[in-house]
Amino acid sequence: MSFEGKTAIITGAAQGIGRAVALEFAERGANLLLADIQSAKVESVAAEIRASGSKATATAVDVTDSNSVASMVELAISEFEQVDILVNDAGGSGTEGVLRIEEVSEDRWDAQVDLNLKGAFLCCKAIVPHMRRRGSGRIVNLSSSNAKGHFGPLNTSGIRLPYAAAKAGIIGLTAQLARDLGRSGIYVNCVLPGFILTEEGARVRGRYEELQQASQEAMAEAVPLGRAGRADEVAKAVAFMASDEASYITGTVLDVTGGR
Ligand SMILES: NC(=O)c1ccc[n+]([C@@H]2O[C@H](COP(=O)([O-])OP(=O)(O)OC[C@H]3O[C@@H](n4cnc5c(N)ncnc54)[C@H](O)[C@@H]3O)[C@@H](O)[C@H]2O)c1
Repeated sequence: MSFEGKTAIITGAAQGIGRAVALEFAERGANLLLADIQSAKVESVAAEIRASGSKATATAVDVTDSNSVASMVELAISEFEQVDILVNDAGGSGTEGVLRIEEVSEDRWDAQVDLNLKGAFLCCKAIVPHMRRRGSGRIVNLSSSNAKGHFGPLNTSGIRLPYAAAKAGIIGLTAQLARDLGRSGIYVNCVLPGFILTEEGARVRGRYEELQQASQEAMAEAVPLGRAGRADEVAKAVAFMASDEASYITGTVLDVTGGR
């Protein structure tokens, strides 16, 4: 899978899975526009990639804000002239504990759905006209096994109910958009990670380390492969879905869950 001569926008690239996707794409030769609400942190990922000889520009973005998303897409086009790939990684279930439905306020619901569903919609909406003009493009969205209600009471997902609903919405967005854009040469797919332990300092690692050892072990035991996944293992699946190798695959969900 080579991305030589291709440009990718990766949202949520400051840490975790988005950062791993950025490193994977850089290794395969992509030019990168890395976007995140954590501007200093995403700049340091871009600097790390530039130091290894690839092209990477960082920008601050809030994916829930259409003006901010439009600026991100304009910057990518002005910097690299074309965008071939969009990876909608920005998201997550926050750092609060799991809440019962009675405790989920409307504001919390809206914030989770905005971040994990509307954000992907806004980024797709902003990039599709450009991809349509070029007659090609690849969009990869990030869902979660929470979308299927897979996790028990103790785990690393925070405000789980609206998060699960939003990530299920990502599957619908992917399926319908793929159907709508198939004739335009634009592929839309979805990667669905399970329990992925990201690096020190990233959100999921932090939440995992707060759990009792018995809960940590129970999480690994629930996975058929018997362990948590790594961010680079998700990044490889994203790379496949974004590559020309996936030439007859659109509208699908690829589970990266260790078998669950
Ligand atoms: N790690 C897992 O176990 C797991 C499992 C299933 C799905 N996912 C999904 O994969 C994606 C990445 O997860 P992660 O574990 O790396 O999460 P993470 O929280 O470590 O990283 C998410 C990134 O998104 C950025 N972000 C948050 N709000 C933003 C906004 N409004 N605009 C722009 N950027 C914003 C954050 O700053 C952060 O860098 C998320 O969509 C998450 O829901 C993760």
